[in-house]
Amino acid sequence: MNRIFSGMQPTRQLHLGNYLGALRNWVALQDGFECIFCVVDLHALTLPQDPAALRRNIREVTAAYIAAGIDPERCIIFAQSSVAAHSELSWILSCHTPLGWLNRMTQFKDKVGKKALENAMLGLYAYPVLMAADILLYKATHVPVGEDQKQHLELSRDIAGAFNRHYDRAFFPLPEPQILGDATRVMSLRDGSKKMSKSDESDYSRINMTDDADLIAVKIRKARTDPEPLPDTLEALVKRAEADNLITIYAALAGISRAETLAQVAGQQFSQFKKDLADLAVAKLSPINAEMNRLMADPAEIDLILRRGAERAGTMAAGHLDEIKDVIGLLRL
Ligand code: TYM
Repeated sequence: MNRIFSGMQPTRQLHLGNYLGALRNWVALQDGFECIFCVVDLHALTLPQDPAALRRNIREVTAAYIAAGIDPERCIIFAQSSVAAHSELSWILSCHTPLGWLNRMTQFKDKVGKKALENAMLGLYAYPVLMAADILLYKATHVPVGEDQKQHLELSRDIAGAFNRHYDRAFFPLPEPQILGDATRVMSLRDGSKKMSKSDESDYSRINMTDDADLIAVKIRKARTDPEPLPDTLEALVKRAEADNLITIYAALAGISRAETLAQVAGQQFSQFKKDLADLAVAKLSPINAEMNRLMADPAEIDLILRRGAERAGTMAAGHLDEIKDVIGLLRL
């Protein structure tokens, strides 16, 4: 039995990196797998959130899933906080996770930055354990994510393995990362060495799934590039991070390879290429944006979808949590 679990944090708007690196792949995978897609609102709490904005973002991420093509009938779509077993399993797994494993997590170090460790939140540190709980609670076998989640997934596999060894049984499947396509790490439009991210101060560094056509075009026009025309080989892109990123985005949106993209655009100046890229991005993203707006106009409908999803996820989670309690020696009373 192959089961997919994946999720996105409802912090600010989703962007093109989230779409090309993950969401678009989820849409394709729902035909071949049993799929569970979560809005990981508890993970969002690891950084300060405004309550009203968080509520809106939870609904907006749900709307983005559906607008991008996830079918809430075939797949389970739900909010993490509505299934309490995520938090329970997270505690249990945290008692099977050595601190040394968490100390290796680069995202924790990046997010804490230069601030004093004393002021960093415990939740941020424990974040990858909650992520492992998300996946293992459903005994998921596959986890489609972008490149930046690779290390967290390795930790999930390590925790699953440690649990299985400790209780001497193959209880959790070791979840396989699915890092698919060319756009597994979409970079900032302002700096080709930084990943496109919700937390970047500059809104011009990313294309949000909520941006309208004009804003998408302006952001692409202002994207940083170099003065050379576009090359005809992939090797020539290696030292041109911004050009490389725009070619990757074009290829992913057009559904062709990077080499095919170069064959079409080699020799062009960026002014021309950016116009074509903006047209393509608008053509692909505008229908999703329009559908998101339509869904967001009826929050009650979104809440209903999340409630139904929570019931379905909750049933599966409760069954697995009972099994876990049996395995570790807690009473099921
Ligand atoms: P999050 O919310 O940061 O990102 C959601 C998904 O988008 C991918 N992604 C990108 N892909 C390509 N280029 C980018 N610039 C880019 N930025 C983000 C991420 O890799 C991710 O797939 N910890 C997770 C959420 C999570 C989760 C889980 C995922 C919690 N529990 C269980 C899978 C399974 C996160 O913060 O994703």
